[in-house]
Amino acid sequence: KKKINIAIDGPAAAGKSTIAKRIAERMDYIYIDTGAMYRAVTLHLIRHDRQILNQLEDLDIRFGAGGTTLYLNGEDVTEDIRTQEVTSNVSEVSSLSGVRRYLVSMQQKIAEDKGVVMDGRDIGTTVLPDAELKIFMKASPEIRAKRRLKEEEARGVDIDLETLTDQIVRRDELDMNREISPLVKADEAVLLDTSHMGIAEVEDTIIKMALDLL
Ligand code: C5P
Repeated sequence: KKKINIAIDGPAAAGKSTIAKRIAERMDYIYIDTGAMYRAVTLHLIRHDRQILNQLEDLDIRFGAGGTTLYLNGEDVTEDIRTQEVTSNVSEVSSLSGVRRYLVSMQQKIAEDKGVVMDGRDIGTTVLPDAELKIFMKASPEIRAKRRLKEEEARGVDIDLETLTDQIVRRDELDMNREISPLVKADEAVLLDTSHMGIAEVEDTIIKMALDLL
C-alpha cells in the first residue's frame, strides 16, 4: 500500500499540531511534533546550564505511542516542555546549527519509510523536501493568540491575551529571521489560511488532498 509524507509548517500557534495529529490518526500514520523536540533540547539546556551543547548525541528524545507524550532521557516531559520559560527560550536554542543538525537528521530518519505527518517550521523546505504533500498554515496573530489563550486557560495557566500576542509575534520574528532554515513557505506548499476555518474543515481539506495523492 502506497504511503506518503505530509509536511505541515507555519507560524506559532497556527493549529499545526492539532491538525497534524488528527490527520495522522485518520490515515493511520505516525505523527511527529518537531517543535516538541526543540522544546526538549531547550528544557535540557535550561536544567543543565547550557553545558551539554556539545554532547547532544547523549540526549535521548522519544515520543510515546500516538506522538503526544515526550520522553527526555526516559522522563515524561510532556508538560515541562510547555512552560513559559521553555517557550521564551526555544527560538534562541533552535537557531543553533548543532541543535538543528542533530534534530533534523533524527527527523529524517523517522520519516524514511514514509507514512509520517510532521509539523514544524522547516519541514517542507529542509527536513522533508521530497514530502508528497506540503501545507503552510497561517492565521492572523490575534486569532492565534485567542486560540492559544483558550488552551492556556484550560491548562490552568494565568496569562493575558496581550502577553500571548506579544510572545507569538516575537517568536515568529525570531523564527523567520534566523540564519539556518528560517520559517518560510516552500514554493510548492499549499497555503491554508485558517483564520476563519474550523478544525474539521481544515482537517477535511488536507485529507482530501492526501487521498488524491494515493
Ligand atoms: O511548534 P512549537 O511552537 O512547539 O515550536 C517551538 C519552537 O521550536 C519554534 O518557535 C521554533 O523556534 C522551533 N522550531 C524550529 N523548527 C521546527 C519546529 C520548531 O525551529 N521544525
